[in-house]
Amino acid sequence: MQFDTVIKNGTIVTANETFASDLGLTGGRITAIAEALPVENAGKVIDASGRLVMPGGVDVHTHLDMPFGGTTSSDDFETGTTAAAYGGTTTLIDFAVQTKGHSLRQAFETWMRKAERKAAIDYAFHCVITDLGDAQFEEMGSLIREGVSSFKLFMAYPGVLMVDDATIFRAMQQTAKYGGMICLHAENGSVIDVIVQRALAEGKRAPKYHALTRPTTAEGEATGRAMALAEMAGAPVYIVHLSCNDALEKVREARDRGLPAYAETCPQYLFLSIEKMDAPGFESAKYVFTPPLREKWHQEKLWQGLTRDTLQVVSTDHCPFCFKEQKELGKDDFSKIPNGGPGIEHRLSLVYTGGVHGGWFSPNRFVQLVSTAPAKLFGLFPRKGTIAVGSDADIVIFDANEEQTISVQTHHMRIDYSMYEGIRVKGVPKTVLSRGRVIVDNGKFVGRAGSGEFIRRQAITRLAR
Ligand code: URP
Ligand code: ZN
Ligand code: ZN
Repeated sequence: MQFDTVIKNGTIVTANETFASDLGLTGGRITAIAEALPVENAGKVIDASGRLVMPGGVDVHTHLDMPFGGTTSSDDFETGTTAAAYGGTTTLIDFAVQTKGHSLRQAFETWMRKAERKAAIDYAFHCVITDLGDAQFEEMGSLIREGVSSFKLFMAYPGVLMVDDATIFRAMQQTAKYGGMICLHAENGSVIDVIVQRALAEGKRAPKYHALTRPTTAEGEATGRAMALAEMAGAPVYIVHLSCNDALEKVREARDRGLPAYAETCPQYLFLSIEKMDAPGFESAKYVFTPPLREKWHQEKLWQGLTRDTLQVVSTDHCPFCFKEQKELGKDDFSKIPNGGPGIEHRLSLVYTGGVHGGWFSPNRFVQLVSTAPAKLFGLFPRKGTIAVGSDADIVIFDANEEQTISVQTHHMRIDYSMYEGIRVKGVPKTVLSRGRVIVDNGKFVGRAGSGEFIRRQAITRLAR
């Protein structure tokens, strides 16, 4: 047997099992999983003694190079995927946003151009539907066949991205027919808009009013409506960036009834709470994203949700805007602050710290949440999301005991602040491989812009329960 690379002496962790083994990699794939693999003819040998060897992270919610709120997210596909690699993520799914009145294909092609020659890890796209005429309705089937097998629709941001229930229902009917998944940003945007306008009329303009004008009830209501629409359409549904217990309860009820309902949360909702909005001056603009930060007690409910499989995925919703000049667009009016926060780099470390060291779940459940379940739900499995013979050699060699302090001084995202400044994590990706190539070597990026590939996804939609 001849391998391009052998990873020796590691502890393999998949979603189902933990065992000591070597890994042999050839032609970008995993070709052997066995003890004491021969190394004489191997091109490269990596010693993973004392470390966990896990499938590369799959982040299914990022916004790179995205025009939004009068500006563009500050990480492009080069800086964003490089930061992702540092953090152990080897595949991401970004959002190609349809311009109203234009085709979905145009959105897909635009985002393909943004990513090619820049991405350092593999990537795929969800398509954001902002207007579903007859032509776009037909296009959904062809996009699914071409590997864009999921769509995001917004129940919030009226006048910009929000669509009505009929549009959501029709889109769901198409995914019921062709396979694929509808992802929903679930907040009642019309009601929130009334609350926002009233706050502004009362002179409430500081960043904290972004959070105070978006109640958890608005997220719970929209999540419940999403469940009902999906049930009527006979389609699966995936709720993005779920932030609060009100919404969690709606997903739990739907799943208890056996519906194919799924949801993700994000590290910001697990680690940060609404007290951040009390920071002096304009500082709290750093935490203006949607849904907003919630009262602290919701965090425990979310961790429970991850443990009990009410929530299946942790993604980042990485949507970075610099504090200087970008967040400052809303200096005098919270509704003009571009919505979004940075996080693509720290998902694995944060979830391992809070989830595994915090005593909520096992390393296997951790792998399920950050890699296997997102890969399965979005048609990437078994190519991505596991360690198995035949899978892509996307691998993270992880030191579960190394500690680091997150800071803007040391992170690699192109943004001038960190939402997690000063937070101490335990569990650090050390070496990362993308299709067999080392892209992070003992904490140093050695990858290359443009080496990431577009991945055509299958239209698989159901995760075994
Ligand atoms: O505030 C956020 N989450 N910005 C990104 C767009 C979205 O709603 O996911
Ligand atoms: Zn959203
Ligand atoms: Zn988002």
